[in-house]
Amino acid sequence: MLTDNDVLLPKAAKPPYETRLLTLAATSWLIVATAGQWLFGVYILLFYGQSTLAGDFERWNKVLPHGYVAGDWKGNLAVGMHVLLAAILVMGGPLQLLPQLRQRVPRFHRWLGRAYIVTALVVSTLGLFMTWTRGTVGDATQHVSISIQALYIIAFALLAIHYARTRQFAPHRVWALRLFMVVSGVWFFRVGLMFWLLVNGGPVGFDPHTFTGPFLTALSIFTYAIPLSLLVLELYLYAQRRQLKLFSLFVAGVIFLCTLIMGIGIVGATLGMWLPNL
Ligand code: HEM
Repeated sequence: MLTDNDVLLPKAAKPPYETRLLTLAATSWLIVATAGQWLFGVYILLFYGQSTLAGDFERWNKVLPHGYVAGDWKGNLAVGMHVLLAAILVMGGPLQLLPQLRQRVPRFHRWLGRAYIVTALVVSTLGLFMTWTRGTVGDATQHVSISIQALYIIAFALLAIHYARTRQFAPHRVWALRLFMVVSGVWFFRVGLMFWLLVNGGPVGFDPHTFTGPFLTALSIFTYAIPLSLLVLELYLYAQRRQLKLFSLFVAGVIFLCTLIMGIGIVGATLGMWLPNL
């Protein structure tokens, strides 16, 4: 039976096949990324949360070569804050991208958004401090690359909050998505590394004792300094804007491939990196 709306309102045209495929690719990517980031978050809360609450700070050194140093309260505080606040980023980031949550509980989106941006600024500043005062695994290229990523995080966080405060929601969305990608860099690094280890059946192209080698140099450059995740995001945004059939199909294919690699890496990181430490 026809209703008034059927008569008065023109039916919204179904989006073309390639647009639906692009949306499906992005949605699958987000579902897999959310699951993987939450697993990382659960690991952070269980491993660092429990050891910190129990006052057993030396347990950090099971995974962090420069985690707890007796007598260096400033450095230890920085590490503790860095890792515990990181949980807000990996648990909260994917929530911010859910359209249903933004539409149904906009106040929650605004509050979590503020917390996310302040946390991103604090965690990346502490990360810079830790990298250059305490040192960490890896070589200078890895340290410089992750420091460049910290600068992206700070710049994108400030831009995302600026556009939200001036109610320019189109650029706000774009800068918030870019921020999510660079904040996720440390997670992409772990997932990328575990994907590589799984498909090669062991360390290839790097020395696991010194944590250096051509593979790790390339991984740190392309996740941190010149993030491929940002390139894929820009391709997706361009495809959404231009709606070109072949280009949309190409980008959907790239996103599906990234989702597959990420899924394998998440399984590897969960089984090989996070679960064994709990
Ligand atoms: C913003 C997103 C970030 C998150 C979510 C994050 C999360 C973490 C976590 C969970 C750890 C503990 C490692 C583990 O248990 O696997 C860690 C360690 C560390 N992070 Fe970050 N981090 C972020 C950004 C950064 C940045 C931008 C830098 C540097 C500029 C950095 C430098 C470090 C250092 C130096 C360690 C200690 C490693 C060691 O002792 O060898 N982090 N981070």
